[in-house]
Amino acid sequence: MKGVVLAGGLGTRLRPLTSITNKHLLPVYDRPMIFYPLQTLADAGIKDVMVVTGGNSAGSFMHLLGDGKQFGFHSLNYAYQTGEGGIAQAIGLAKAFVGNEKFVVILGDNILENSIAKFVDSFKEQVSGARILYKEVADPRDYGVAEIIQGKVVSIVEKPKNPKSNYAVIGVYMFDNKAFDIIKELLPSGRGELEVTDLNNAYIHKGEMQADQITGWWSDCGASIDNLLEANNRAAEIRKGI
Ligand code: DAU
Repeated sequence: MKGVVLAGGLGTRLRPLTSITNKHLLPVYDRPMIFYPLQTLADAGIKDVMVVTGGNSAGSFMHLLGDGKQFGFHSLNYAYQTGEGGIAQAIGLAKAFVGNEKFVVILGDNILENSIAKFVDSFKEQVSGARILYKEVADPRDYGVAEIIQGKVVSIVEKPKNPKSNYAVIGVYMFDNKAFDIIKELLPSGRGELEVTDLNNAYIHKGEMQADQITGWWSDCGASIDNLLEANNRAAEIRKGI
């Protein structure tokens, strides 16, 4: 199974830290943010990975990550996203790299305490469709929010004002190859982006979405400066075994 890390976007919520560099190159305790999602893929046994990035710092990713051998990857590939057309648009750029395989996407600003290996293994067993991961949070309004009935996801709403549950959809998504055909049909949302939530809802409507609840700490550390600070502190504690 192939892996895709999304590290494009403008990171406007973290300005001025992101005025002259890409958000995913910022430090989270003792390493650049993007090391965490790359390590999560490596720990799940994924060996062929593509980083999708953009903006003026795209070359810095090659400089930093090279051929990916430091993560044990067989290959590390790069794609360039012009502008900020959304997560689903960025996923679409991985079409040629993914080929006919199933694949795992992780957002470059998502940090997970625990391994996703068992969920990836479940997806390997899944004949077709998609798989998302979610976590119960106190306030889910900054995330895609999943309505789950009897263990089945029935809908996802992106950043709802009045969430139907406390289940935040985290930035790890697993798709079969049909994702690329669905992305081609998506229309830009109100914020002008091709939304991963619309891609996921297309799978839900087809009855082809599975979901797992994660355990352990998770952070969307690019969402705000306070999330980034918290992630730095938490990453330090985890590294020191506190
Ligand atoms: O973190 C989980 C959340 O991530 C989900 O719950 C939401 O459903 C999902 O939409 C997303 O929300 P965010 O508002 O946090 O997305 P953000 O714009 O911060 O983008 C997340 C990552 O995707 C970011 O690290 C960079 C990458 N990205 C984003 C855009 C808009 C790209 O590579 N290209 C893009 O065009």
